[in-house]
Amino acid sequence: MGAIDGRRFSAMIRFIVAQQGADGAELFEMHCSRCHASTAHVLRRLPQERAIRRERLSSLLAHHHEPDEAERAALIDWLVAQ
Ligand code: HEC
Repeated sequence: MGAIDGRRFSAMIRFIVAQQGADGAELFEMHCSRCHASTAHVLRRLPQERAIRRERLSSLLAHHHEPDEAERAALIDWLVAQ
């Protein structure tokens, strides 16, 4: 496969999301990565304990760049598993 430019990549992501719902990595890329360069950048601000991470993310993300409930659930599952 050849190099993929940013615009093409975004179009691909939108296509995937439209087809089957996004997975966590794609949601992070679309909704978080412009401000948080990596998951580590986000996760190091949270306690280690997964249950606490889940709780903190659940209350934070509803009003922090992930308003859609289904997407938020998928993103949190993925982030907590990192
Ligand atoms: C428009 C920029 C922007 C976007 C987009 C964004 N964030 Fe943030 N986020 C911030 C800023 C600014 C802070 C505060 C940083 C600080 O405290 O130094 C922050 C803080 C956080 C924190 C720490 C909260 C705490 O309790 O300390 C987490 C976790 C987080 N963001 C997760 C996310 C996730 C997940 C996404 C994607 C859904 C996201 N952010 C999208 C700018 C953004």
